[in-house]
Amino acid sequence: MLISLDVLEKVIREAGSIALTYFNDLKNLQVNMKSPRDFVTEADVAVEAFLKERLSLEYPQFGFWGEESGQSANQASRWVVDPIDGTHSFSKGQYFWGISVALEIDDDIKVGVVYAPALNDYYAAEKGKGACKNGVPISVSNETDLANAMVGTGFACIRSFSSENNLQRFCRIAGNTSGQRRFGSAALDLCLVADGQVDAYWEQELNLYDVAAGALIASEAGATITDFKGDSGLFPKQILATNGKILDQILPLM
Ligand code: IPD
Ligand code: CA
Ligand code: CA
Repeated sequence: MLISLDVLEKVIREAGSIALTYFNDLKNLQVNMKSPRDFVTEADVAVEAFLKERLSLEYPQFGFWGEESGQSANQASRWVVDPIDGTHSFSKGQYFWGISVALEIDDDIKVGVVYAPALNDYYAAEKGKGACKNGVPISVSNETDLANAMVGTGFACIRSFSSENNLQRFCRIAGNTSGQRRFGSAALDLCLVADGQVDAYWEQELNLYDVAAGALIASEAGATITDFKGDSGLFPKQILATNGKILDQILPLM
């Protein structure tokens, strides 16, 4: 066993307590802009600093790549961390945000955890051993008809002010599905596919730290994880997670 999942859970839950301290004192929360439309708070920085210190103490053989502090030490075997995925939601006092931690060994994600402290939901997966939510095994939905499906997406691309901004794709897919959601955390969006709460999720212009843990959790729960053409070549810049049963129906609309 590479690591102890119990030790990892203890560390991540401690990180969740740190995040909640800031979340419960939003009037004093310092919020900055990394770039136009890209928020970072002192909570993001504090949670990442805690995770970097504690994971390095517990597992000195692994390097670290965090959204806020960048890459350090061994990058062949590293923790890939988004300390708060859904920062904008966090800063507004909304509950849909998560701490995303993945262990990547030689470009292969071996362990993934997404913890949503405000929702008290802990999603975890180890490659080849399935996915769990709060210790209970989870699996994707059984929806077979895209017309009856609920789908999720996000608009990371808006930050890059790119003309290819997912809005036309969203309209095409919205016109062929029953429900559409934009929850605000890519990591948790992927966990909702894993848990069968959403039948498919897609987004573009994300980074590995947004999706590394959630993609493993979703795939271990039976999801297909592809790019918008149904391949894997453009991951993580393009991600399409489905329950597998509606993949052929949604691909032509991507
Ligand atoms: C963001 C969330 C959001 C997605 C953005 C991401 P952050 O992560 O995952 O759902 O649409 O593109 O950047 O910035 O809150 O860590
Ligand atoms: Ca993120
Ligand atoms: Ca983040």
